[in-house]
This record gives sequence, structure tokens and C-alpha cells, in this order.
Amino acid sequence: MNIPHKPVLLNEVLEVFAELKEWVFVDATLGYGGHSEAILSAHPNIELIGVDRDDEAIAFSSERLKKFGDRVKIIKSDFASALAKIDTSNIVGILADIGVSSLQLDKRERGFSFESETLDMRMDSSQEFSAYDVVNGYSENELERIIRVYGEDRFSKKIASLIVKRRKESKFTTAKELSALIGANFKGGKINPATLTFQAIRIEVNSELEQLENFLENVKNLSQNGKILGIISFHSLEDRIVKTAFKEWSRSCICPPEAYRCTCGNNNELGDIITKKPLIASDTELRTNPRARSAKLRAFKFAGNS
Ligand SMILES: C[S@@+](CC[C@H](N)C(=O)[O-])C[C@H]1O[C@@H](n2cnc3c(N)ncnc32)[C@H](O)[C@@H]1O
Repeated sequence: MNIPHKPVLLNEVLEVFAELKEWVFVDATLGYGGHSEAILSAHPNIELIGVDRDDEAIAFSSERLKKFGDRVKIIKSDFASALAKIDTSNIVGILADIGVSSLQLDKRERGFSFESETLDMRMDSSQEFSAYDVVNGYSENELERIIRVYGEDRFSKKIASLIVKRRKESKFTTAKELSALIGANFKGGKINPATLTFQAIRIEVNSELEQLENFLENVKNLSQNGKILGIISFHSLEDRIVKTAFKEWSRSCICPPEAYRCTCGNNNELGDIITKKPLIASDTELRTNPRARSAKLRAFKFAGNS
């Protein structure tokens, strides 16, 4: 089997979930099944529910994980709403390795890469809204906002203005046209000058930050039975959301900072942060998988007995 995606931080993921013995593990971003396969192999009494919104990823992983028989159930869903579709009573571990897979990035027709002949970027190909609608339909202000906020690109104003000016002549139909336009107006350093704009459009098309926020809220509201949650993120916006949520969940006092004295009972913590600092890729991993360079794993253990 030619596997198109190398799982990042695999040893670190196995370490975070090492104590699991039985019941159900949810891989909320099944992708190409690398993390799932390792978890299933390391924990022979664990059953796994794999979730993804990408049909190609689901087809691939279904085949890859067939050898584990009925220990594996796979559902197509976005991860924010997935927990409402499954029996959550016996979940002991949840992993989300958010972001795009290598196959999504590399397969040109998916529209994520600078050379793509389409303007798509949908993780779920049954969704109607795509990069085409963002690039050709958003106002200059909306474009500027997403490039600034989701791309954190200091040239957001100029890029938005270039896009709007160019599309008055003819609409964009490929990602290649968009990267060429940005490339013609900005010097590339180490990274392609269109990188942050592409990141911003991808986040917008797939509602990536809302997905993460809603997912965290849904996990928080599950019954707390000692389950472990691990999240791998790839850029600072996502990592900030995870870090803030974990910090909030671990606070025992939830009184407003201006409160004169504590009135909340001072026992509101939901559990403990396992990773005081995020785990990052080792030099050895980076040598074989440069895409792990921005990956950060944070983990939280909810209170209660698993
Ligand atoms: C980085 S890959 C995961 C790779 C996987 N851990 C492996 O070992 O092969 C991310 C996957 O998550 C999926 N994904 C991203 N955001 C999602 C969301 N909100 N809901 C469901 N799937 C999502 C993508 O379609 C992609 O297949």
C-alpha cells in the first residue's frame, strides 16, 4: 500500500495515550490512518471510531484499517458535529491532528497547492462553498480581513486590492493564477509569497477555526471519565485556541479577575494539562518529515476514572 501521508509526532502521540487499556478511542481527523493504525496496534483492547470529512481519506483508511475488523468504525463528518453522532459514553481518548493532509496538499486537482489548475480547497468535496467563491465573491474588505486575521499577512491590504483589481478583468479560475499574481508583486523569501494568503483562504473555506472552537466545546461537555484529549495544530491561531481552552479548563477558580474574593467554590477545574509545553518534532523526525516542523501537540486529561 502506497501511503500518501506520514503521521506527525507519532511517538509523542503514543506516549500521551500510553495509559489507555480498553473502551473507545476517537480519531477525529482520521486522514490516512497513520495515528489510528499505531493506536490500534499498541492497544489491542481499544476500539476506534475514525472521523473525517474527506471522502478520499475515508476510502483510503477504510482499506488500511480493514485488518482490525470490527474494532474500527469510520464515519464521514466534520469533527465539530461528530460527537453528537456517536455513542460517547465509553470514550477514553480523543485525538485531532488538524489541518490538511499531504495528499490534499499534493493532489493538484484539490486546489490547495500554488500550481493547482482549480480554485477549490474544500476538504469535503460535497460542500458547495469553495475557494472560487472567496476569491471571486468576497468584497475587498472581507478579503483584507481574512488575509490579515487568518493569514497574519502584513501585506493583506495590498493583496486584497490586487485580487479585486485583477478579477475586474476576468474571474480567477485557478489557484495558479492567484499565486502568480501575488508572486509577481512580492518577492519570495524562504517561503512562497502566496503562502499566507492560501492559508487564509483555506481556513475560511473550511471554517477551520470555528470547527476547532466548537469541537473543544463539545469535548468539554462530554461526561468526564478521565478521558485524554490530544490536539496537534500547525499554526499559531489554532495553537492559541487550544492553549487558551486547556488553561481555562484547568482553572479551579473561575471568578472574574476583578472579583474581591472567590465565590465560585474554587473547585471548577475539569482536569489537568498533561503537556505543560507543547510537544514538538524531534530532529530525527524533521529529517524524514519536514512537514512536522510546525506541528505542536497539546494534551489534557479530564478528571475522573477511565
Ligand atoms: C493532517 S491530516 C490527519 C492525518 C492522520 N492523523 C494520519 O495519520 O494519516 C488531517 C485530516 O483531518 C481532516 N480534517 C481537517 N479538519 C476537519 C474537520 N473539521 N472535520 C473532519 N475532518 C477534518 C482532513 O480532511 C484530513 O484528512
